[in-house]
Amino acid sequence: MLAPVFNGHIHDWDAHLQKLVDFWAWLVLRQNDFTGEPMPKHARLPGLTWRHFEQWLKLFEETTSELDLQALKAVVDPMAQRIAVRLWEHYRSQERPDTQIWQTDIPPDLAVYKSSPVFTHDKLPAALRNTHSTKSGVWGVVRMLSGSLVFTLDEDPPRTILLEAGMQLLVQPQTPHHVEFVSEGSFQIDFCSRDPE
Ligand code: HEM
Repeated sequence: MLAPVFNGHIHDWDAHLQKLVDFWAWLVLRQNDFTGEPMPKHARLPGLTWRHFEQWLKLFEETTSELDLQALKAVVDPMAQRIAVRLWEHYRSQERPDTQIWQTDIPPDLAVYKSSPVFTHDKLPAALRNTHSTKSGVWGVVRMLSGSLVFTLDEDPPRTILLEAGMQLLVQPQTPHHVEFVSEGSFQIDFCSRDPE
């Protein structure tokens, strides 16, 4: 899945690997002044989907596990996840304006009729980590209380947003989606329906 993208764009692997070493040394150790441009460079790669980034993250995390350096893994895995989500958000924003996909305001004709318990990273039900949706006529408002969460709309291609403490997201009725924590955190869901008035 990733090989065609890399093989189509990297002509000098030594230079690419050196660039990535510089990137991580800058990110983790502030050892140099990295002067690359990851955002526009990834934005120009044709045909990327969130699945590519998931596969990239899987390989990254397998590699950091093999290093057997737990403290390093605990630092760089979440960094890689955040960057992957940001690269993907930027990539996607070229296709359709974010405002058409992600709604944060609750329309005035909706009213909250119930709230979920507070979900934390260590007690996130599998039902929320797998694709699910609300019933017809039920909107969900995800309110991030702390930490950060990757929210994925299971469309083709999937669309992902990083929700951080203080943000909220309106989820339309019957819209397949799933969530996963990036770091420790907590959120709550308000369920809304149309005000009978
Ligand atoms: C779908 C997943 C990804 C693919 C297919 C991918 C592919 C590529 C390719 C082909 C390039 C070379 C671009 C060029 O020189 O024109 C590149 C550069 C780079 N990538 Fe990725 N990448 C992915 C995800 C990531 C992630 C998640 C990170 C960081 C955590 C990352 C960090 C970088 C950096 C630092 C560069 C160098 C940018 C520069 O030259 O300024 N990549 N990537």
